[in-house]
Amino acid sequence: MSTSSSTAAERNFKREFLKIFFIVFGVLLICLAIFFVNHHDNKYIIETLELNGSAKEGDALFKVNCVGCHGITARGLVGPDLHSITQRLNDREIIKQVTGGLTPPMPSFEIDPVNMSNLLKYLHSLE
Ligand code: HEC
Repeated sequence: MSTSSSTAAERNFKREFLKIFFIVFGVLLICLAIFFVNHHDNKYIIETLELNGSAKEGDALFKVNCVGCHGITARGLVGPDLHSITQRLNDREIIKQVTGGLTPPMPSFEIDPVNMSNLLKYLHSLE
């Protein structure tokens, strides 16, 4: 076998090998990306849930960011009434609702864990 001219079978094999290699590589990259996004999300949620927020601070935050749609007393306007929301959604779901932007027109909010915890405390106080 000479090195300068490989047979058609060898070339075919190389092509197939490269194809499989890149497919496996791509799948691995996608898995890694999903892992990091999830890990980042979970870290934020865990950090938030470890804190014991202040309802008063949360109220102030709510007045700045949320009253336009949920009403000054959170009884609902464009957005729904948020009283007893903590009986329907758990804290994790509320965090995702506020930071996720999954239900337009409600925007996604970038809130640090301390303020998110304050907001949660406020929402719990509405029960
Ligand atoms: C631009 C308007 C708007 C703003 C601002 C807004 N929301 Fe909303 N929100 C909505 C709408 C509309 C829904 C209903 C979405 C749906 O279920 O399709 C909603 C839903 C929610 C829900 C889930 C209610 C349920 O019954 O499932 C929570 C919790 C919530 N908002 C909290 C907040 C908080 C906290 C803020 C402030 C940080 C905020 N929202 C700001 C419009 C808004």
